[in-house]
Amino acid sequence: MDALIYPGSFDPITKGHLDIIQRSLKIANFVVIAILKNRAKTFLFSVEERVEMIKSVMKENGFFDYVKVVIFDGLTIKLCEKEGIYTLVRGLRAISDFEHETAMFLMNRYLEPKVETIFLMSSQEYSFISSSIVKEVAYYGGDISSHVPISIASCLEKKYFDKK
Ligand code: PNS
Repeated sequence: MDALIYPGSFDPITKGHLDIIQRSLKIANFVVIAILKNRAKTFLFSVEERVEMIKSVMKENGFFDYVKVVIFDGLTIKLCEKEGIYTLVRGLRAISDFEHETAMFLMNRYLEPKVETIFLMSSQEYSFISSSIVKEVAYYGGDISSHVPISIASCLEKKYFDKK
């Protein structure tokens, strides 16, 4: 397969996301990591910060030449049209993800029948990681080193340290 789009908030990127990117690169030659910039949602990190954080993690892991990091605002199907890539990849963690992911999958296909979504089951060690939980634990000073790349742990520390 040529290329996949991996859309998400990545606020921040976790080891779970990294696992999905790494495994996507076994199926596709190239992955477009698409970061949602949505005014209706509140993010901890600005979209520019998220771009830089993902790029650093990609460099640290040797994936930089096989990915492109883009920002999108609006419908994912519009991004598919813009990139000329109609296959999305999403990670599925516990059963709780299933309902929401099914709704998104069906809506994307309704809006643009050319769009297909590949779901990768999360690896066991990352099945219960989410950016939200990571942020909460980091906020209270808990250890998140197993859940996010080391550079991201530093960004979280800096963000919360600067805020307090
Ligand atoms: O990492 P997330 O927050 O689970 O990612 C959600 C994302 C970005 C994939 C989803 O919110 C999305 O696709 N947003 C774009 C708007 C859109 O296309 N909506 C229609 C499909 S439900």
